[in-house]
Amino acid sequence: MAPMNVVQTLSPTLSIRNSLHSLIALLITILVIVVVYLSQHGEQLLEDCAKSKNSEKSNLRCDLFSGKWVFDNESYPLYNERQCTFMSDQLACEKFGRQDLSFRNWRWQPHHCDIPRFNATALLEGLRNKRLMFVGDSLNRGMWVSMVCLVHSAVPPEFKAMHSNGSLNVFKATEYNASIEFYWAPLLVESNSDNPVSHRLPERIVRVQAIEKHARHWTDADILVFNTYLWWRSKSQMKVLWGSFENSDGIYKYVKRLRVYEMALKTWSDWLEVHVDRSKTQLFFVSMSPIHERYIFRHREEEAKLITSIKGMGDERRSLCQHGKEIL
Ligand SMILES: *[C@@H]1O[C@H](CO)[C@@H](O)[C@H](O)[C@H]1NC(C)=O
Ligand SMILES: *[C@@H]1O[C@H](CO)[C@@H](O)[C@H](O)[C@H]1NC(C)=O
Ligand SMILES: *[C@@H]1O[C@H](CO)[C@@H](O)[C@H](O)[C@H]1NC(C)=O
Ligand SMILES: *[C@@H]1O[C@H](CO)[C@@H](O)[C@H](O)[C@H]1NC(C)=O
Repeated sequence: MAPMNVVQTLSPTLSIRNSLHSLIALLITILVIVVVYLSQHGEQLLEDCAKSKNSEKSNLRCDLFSGKWVFDNESYPLYNERQCTFMSDQLACEKFGRQDLSFRNWRWQPHHCDIPRFNATALLEGLRNKRLMFVGDSLNRGMWVSMVCLVHSAVPPEFKAMHSNGSLNVFKATEYNASIEFYWAPLLVESNSDNPVSHRLPERIVRVQAIEKHARHWTDADILVFNTYLWWRSKSQMKVLWGSFENSDGIYKYVKRLRVYEMALKTWSDWLEVHVDRSKTQLFFVSMSPIHERYIFRHREEEAKLITSIKGMGDERRSLCQHGKEIL
């Protein structure tokens, strides 16, 4: 079984490299990678990582993508859910009485180095005058909430603000002029599911060639972390619209789901190529992870199995992931 779950930096040609983990794993990896990247130290590590990929391990210093999940109840979890005023009810397991909370104690351990413990102040210094933006579906919204909660305790109340306007949610650490944002675009391209609140519709319609409405909000971000996943797990065909939702002369057609996914990713990557200055903006694409369903772990062994393996991923998701990889 090929590793599927992917956290990857996008090379200029948007080609893909990957490694694999579960939801929590993924969550922590993203945070860790973004965090590490932002500290000076991490920048070095990532550079080394990229180099070692190119020059076949000539540089063995550290590949952050090669590692494993370890249980660590001494230095993890990194934040306390109950103390984070920005935690959303959708993600507040502890608040609603969940007992088995040790899933929060898993830490990513690269094989060849140690990642410095998360330091919110160092992160904020790295983000000074910058925008870090998560774009995608509710899985990426979870990443954003976690990131906000991670830095929350390092910022006094008078120096932080949260604003939401439509699909855009912005946490700001004013002392640093640093923004940590989330933009709701579950399919990346436009669709009839773009309303951040009421998006559960009987039939999904995708405008595979239209992205500008969303993308104009991303243009100036310094770090972009994309995902698009949950909303592609539907029937074998999806309804595609060529034209606009407002005009009645649009053309609607049912197209195979994987083909629609392919067209959407093409629109997205073309947009990035034209609009994003790669010397200024760092791009990440997160592919698949287990969805946020109810997982109740009776034993630590059970939890470990889900977190450290990819067994939970069904054929449907595997094909989607594989396909995404081929397209990019
Ligand atoms: C950490 O986990 C180990 C092994 O499960 C356990 O023996 C120990 O009591 C735990 N420590 C804390 C502080 O929870
Ligand atoms: C966190 O980072 C700040 C700024 O880089 C540094 O001054 C501080 O000592 C760090 N804290 C820890 C616990 O490493
Ligand atoms: C604050 O950060 C934004 C980017 O988020 C930047 O465009 C702006 O110039 C910064 N303001 C100052 C005063 O540096
Ligand atoms: C919210 O966004 C809309 C559309 O982008 C904009 O016209 C409006 O001024 C924004 N409102 C606030 C309070 O920022």
